[in-house]
Amino acid sequence: MDSRKRLEELRHLLAEHSHRYYVLDNPLIADGEYDRLFQELLEIEGKHPEWIVPDSPSQRVGDVPLDKFVQVAHRLPMLSLENAFDDQDLFDFEDRLLRFLLQDEAPEYIAEPKLDGLAVELVYEEGFLVLGSTRGNGEVGEDITAQLRTVSSIPLRLRREDVPRLEVRGEVFMNREGLVELNRQRAEAGEALFANPRNAAAGSLRQLDPAITAQRPLRFFVYGVSEPSVTGCRNQLELLQFLADLGLPVNSHIRLCPDMAAVINHFSALAVLRHELPYEIDGMVVKVNDFSLQTRLGSKARAPRWAIACKFPAIQATTRIMTVEFQVGRTGAVTPVAILEPVDVGGVVVSRATLHNGAEIKRKDLHQGDTVLVQRAGDVIPEIVKAVPEKRDGSEQPIVMPEFCPVCSHPLVKPEGEAVTRCLNPHCPAQRLRSFVHFCSKAGLDIEGLGKKSVEQLFELELIQDLPDIFLLKKEDLASLEGWGEKSAENVVAAVNAAKTPSLSRFLAALGIRYVGEVTASLLERTFHNLESLLEVTVDDLVEIEGLGEQAAHSTVEYLSDSSVQEMFARFRAAGVWPQSVTSPNERLLLSGEVLLFTGSLKKLSRSEAKKLVKDNGGQIASGVTKKLTCLVVGEKPGSKLKKAQELGKKILTEDAFLHMLESVQSV
Ligand code: IVH
Repeated sequence: MDSRKRLEELRHLLAEHSHRYYVLDNPLIADGEYDRLFQELLEIEGKHPEWIVPDSPSQRVGDVPLDKFVQVAHRLPMLSLENAFDDQDLFDFEDRLLRFLLQDEAPEYIAEPKLDGLAVELVYEEGFLVLGSTRGNGEVGEDITAQLRTVSSIPLRLRREDVPRLEVRGEVFMNREGLVELNRQRAEAGEALFANPRNAAAGSLRQLDPAITAQRPLRFFVYGVSEPSVTGCRNQLELLQFLADLGLPVNSHIRLCPDMAAVINHFSALAVLRHELPYEIDGMVVKVNDFSLQTRLGSKARAPRWAIACKFPAIQATTRIMTVEFQVGRTGAVTPVAILEPVDVGGVVVSRATLHNGAEIKRKDLHQGDTVLVQRAGDVIPEIVKAVPEKRDGSEQPIVMPEFCPVCSHPLVKPEGEAVTRCLNPHCPAQRLRSFVHFCSKAGLDIEGLGKKSVEQLFELELIQDLPDIFLLKKEDLASLEGWGEKSAENVVAAVNAAKTPSLSRFLAALGIRYVGEVTASLLERTFHNLESLLEVTVDDLVEIEGLGEQAAHSTVEYLSDSSVQEMFARFRAAGVWPQSVTSPNERLLLSGEVLLFTGSLKKLSRSEAKKLVKDNGGQIASGVTKKLTCLVVGEKPGSKLKKAQELGKKILTEDAFLHMLESVQSV
């Protein structure tokens, strides 16, 4: 197939898979497969930049940072909604409708989750996304087209081309998990935290540099259009189906309600369901379904008469900060935690809330003894929204970050530019205990029976003083302990034995090396295959690995070269604990440590097959002819890359020689 055709096919395939993944939440292929198709598309586009079209999936982050946001007027205003706070408000709303309409014209309603994000308008012309803007003041918003193009669930092109122009409206938001992770990163970097998903969505979209927006896990649901009459749809339900057919994501918890009783029922259902949703909803929007009724009802100054927002009661409460504790985490980070007068927040008693770091305390101007507003964000994590300074009586005391570790008394440090205050004493009991807990937890070796409580108990009894001690636990040591018995002791010993040969990535992630989480640990496993090889690496080797950051590289090398870590490894070995080598090097991993690049046209392999072969055999693909390249594979009509590689003295193989080299191992 010629590459232009293939490019079109790839665009089509990628758009289809992306729609299934982001819009329908029903992917057909694995992420790796998608990445490979995407890579192939990038390669063709790299060779033929003249073939790049605006709706290519490569063009989501194409734009350079903006100098400022340009204002755009909405062709038709984006209205807001009136609020209902209880059932009575809903019945009043219905009464007003009935008075306006003829009494016997009882309307049907559509009840939709009210998403807690930012309202945006997307303009499609001839099926292509041409403009995206914020709601702004309803009349004039800001052009954030480049930012919105980075949101994967927003189609760059609609699935039907027979719609000359369509102005759709919807909400951009962030999953709870995405917000928690974003805030974790911001706390670590000393940046102000986002108080709720709405702020996080707004803050992410109002970035002049779309590349920053692209890193934020934003999502989108469509809920309407500026002018329903252009769609030919008769009601909101039909419109939502029409929008879904165009490839736009429509929320799946929308219901048609024949009357207000059904609306109220759905509200109760959503009030329960909201806790299970991966994103935040702050209520429900009720709309008259029929468009001709909507038109007759019309709008008041800022809000339509045909819709109303029912808000969930806020899950906030006021209480008092009694004292502040300082917790020392696994990496030595010292986190202030407010101990609160216990208070019921939406059915859950809250008695503590993290204050994150010193900067957050300053920003919120919190004092010991302050009356504070607390809320459960994301339903689970209680947080302090703000202090109520009016309630101060002068007895409040400033909250000061300690100078010495509250557990080991080692002086604490707060490096310039970092938000986190840390205890750097590697022998700090708090850090050791936390690292033992992590080692046994699900994120570590997942040793059943050794949860937080048991590890704490064994640590206090000095049965575990170092990680290898875990593997020396004996049934008789455990069985007689408080809360233990023969059976539980036996189970733990069995679980410990079963954990003696973890995969390298699991082992590395369990050790809790700073900046080495699951993803980095997998990268290290894929590159080095066994701990012995990893023990010999330098920072230079590690920074060459695509996807592995500099901090992780430094931290890994520093950790592995520490003499006390090496002593610990020796004790692990003596206890029969060692990570498995993933694959035997002579069987499949012929290319481990090799960094290859293909150039010219290959005759026997497609580019994606060639790359797959390299990866399957443990090699990496270079981004160009660079220092890190170890071998260039040349097809027909190689270009300047060959010359450059020759100049640099790199190994050069023909396609046949490359295949020949792999054949011996492929047939095993
Ligand atoms: S309809 C005229 N539907 O709530 C109709 N709005 O105060 C106006 N919102 O600015 C919007 N989910 O940001 C509508 N399913 C939904 C919504 C929704 C969230 C937001 C939207 C709007 C605000 C209204």
